Order: sequence, then structure tokens, then C-alpha cells
Amino acid sequence: MKVVVTGAAGKIGRWVVRRIMDAGHEVIASDRKLREESASDYFIQADLRDYGQAMQLFKNSDAVIHLANIPTDVRNTPQAIFENNMIVNFNVFEACKDWKIKKIVWASSETVMGFPFSVNELSYLPIDEEHPVHVKSSYAMAKLLTEQLAGMFHGLTGQQIIGLRFANIYEPDEYAHISTHWTDAEKDKQKMNVWAYCDVRDAAQACLLAVEKENLGSDIFHITALDTILPDRSEDLIKRFFPTIALKRPLKDFDTCMANDKARQILGYNPEYTWRNAVNADGKPKAMPKDLLALSNL
Ligand SMILES: NC(=O)c1ccc[n+]([C@@H]2O[C@H](COP(=O)([O-])OP(=O)(O)OC[C@H]3O[C@@H](n4cnc5c(N)ncnc54)[C@H](O)[C@@H]3O)[C@@H](O)[C@H]2O)c1
Repeated sequence: MKVVVTGAAGKIGRWVVRRIMDAGHEVIASDRKLREESASDYFIQADLRDYGQAMQLFKNSDAVIHLANIPTDVRNTPQAIFENNMIVNFNVFEACKDWKIKKIVWASSETVMGFPFSVNELSYLPIDEEHPVHVKSSYAMAKLLTEQLAGMFHGLTGQQIIGLRFANIYEPDEYAHISTHWTDAEKDKQKMNVWAYCDVRDAAQACLLAVEKENLGSDIFHITALDTILPDRSEDLIKRFFPTIALKRPLKDFDTCMANDKARQILGYNPEYTWRNAVNADGKPKAMPKDLLALSNL
């Protein structure tokens, strides 16, 4: 397939470009930021707030993996995030409609679930795609509205439009600092996303699976690691931080509290990476292959 990856100069996009190419697809990498070292030879600089640029970019492609958004609440004003992300997401879906592109994968976010989660808003654990949403920021609202927009465009066109609600993404070199989360204050703070995370390589796996699968319609999947970001057993964390919460199914060992069961069952998602293999019990990082760190630092 000829696949356009937007946001290709970003944290997740760099790994997605590599993964899609390794699977044998032709990749057009795009971002508004120039990045000469992209894994793909085909890099097009485009600002997707401009519909004309989106139209030019997607011409003759079979699929789009859309990752270009401002990815956090903290470095831009709420208005700038909402304006950029909503218009970009609309333009991408609209241009894909006009070119009759059959498959779109796009990045939603765990934040639609209510980041930061407050105890009384949690209905049960592990949180799955059926859990009520509690949006608290312009970033999360733009993601939630885009989930609805995806439903509308699927209804109009029948295109396959898959939203991946990524948990907090880690690149391999970030595990070196993971033990900073292990203080009591941090454990309490990190409960705001029920200690969920996802390795960037597993996020890239999910993008590949979602773009290769057929007949998925319009759907949403949680994309998380198999485990939590903390060394504590999940049962102990829940007893301590959410003592009255109902469990939808039992959690063992270090099981993630943000369920990825749906992605595993429907997409065949099989997360391969955990911080537990990257650091020692004292939190010190294990030696990592140089090529892996090089890609992290691209
Ligand atoms: N990083 C995370 O923890 C995380 C978690 C959940 C969801 N997400 C989502 O995943 C996607 C990728 O996130 P990331 O962490 O790689 O972010 P990133 O900032 O590293 O990459 C996003 C890229 O999008 C580009 N971009 C933004 N606005 C654009 C525009 N108008 N036109 C063209 N390009 C534009 C930026 O230049 C940037 O390179 C985003 O949609 C983000 O909301 C990220």
C-alpha cells in the first residue's frame, strides 16, 4: 500500500514510518516541521490546517496514518490546541473522503477518559472503551469530537476509520528516568491515568495492524502496555488508591488498569515491550543497543 504518515517528524511518527516501511509499504512521511533524517526518502512538508495542502498530500494514496496534532495540554494555549487539532483532523478526514481513501488510522488519546481521573468518576477497573468519558481539557475535547467526526465520515463514505487511544508514550531512552515515578507522591499523582503507558514501538505495531486489517468500519481501541508504569502489583495499587472500585475482571501481577483487550482481540495487538526489561530492580537502566538509542534520539 501507499501510506501517508502525518506527524512523521514527531515522537510516535518517526517509529511509525519505520515500522510501516519495514512491513513493505511505500511511505510518504509528512509534517509541518522539516525533518531531513526521516526513515522515508519521501518527506513532504505540509501544514494540514490548509485544506489544499492536505488534498495535495493525500493524492493517489491507499491509506493515511494521521498523527499530526499538538500532543499535550501544557505547551500551548487551550484555544491554539483546539483550533489546530480540530481543523487539522477535519481537513484530513475531508480530503480522505474526497480522494476516496479506503483506510484512515488516527491518534486519539487516553485523555478522553478523564485525565486526570478523579476517584469518584471511575465507574470500574480496568477502564475499557465502554467506560464513560469525562473530558477536562480542550486537547481531550478535540480528540472526543474527532472520534464523533470519524463516525460521521464513516457514515458518509463507508471508509475504515480507526482511532487509537494511546496511553502515555515512552521511547526506549525514557526508561532511564522511570524510577522518578516510584515515590509515594508520584504514585498518587500517576493514578490520574491509572498508571497506564505504552512503548512507542507497540504504538507503531498498533498503527500497522490497524492499517492492514480489513472491514473494521469506524472504531476506537485503547493502546496500552500489558503492565503499569509502577513496580507495585496492580491489586496493591488499587487497594491503596481506589479502595472501593468495582473490578470488571480480576487483575493479576502488574496488569494494566487501562484494558487493551479489545485491540488484542480485534486487531491482534500484542504489546511486546515493558519498562521491566529495560531497567534493573533499583531503577538503573540496563545497557541498550546503540541503534535503538539512535532512533530514540533522531
Ligand atoms: N505522546 C503521547 O504520549 C501521546 C499520547 C496519546 C495520544 N498522542 C497523540 O499521538 C499523536 C502524535 O503524538 P506525538 O507524541 O508524536 O507528538 P509530537 O508533537 O512529537 O508529533 C506531532 C507532530 O505533529 C505535527 N503537527 C502539529 N500540527 C500540525 C499541522 N497543523 N500540520 C502538520 N503537522 C502538524 C508537529 O509538527 C509534530 O511533529 C498526536 O495526535 C497526539 O495527540 C500522543
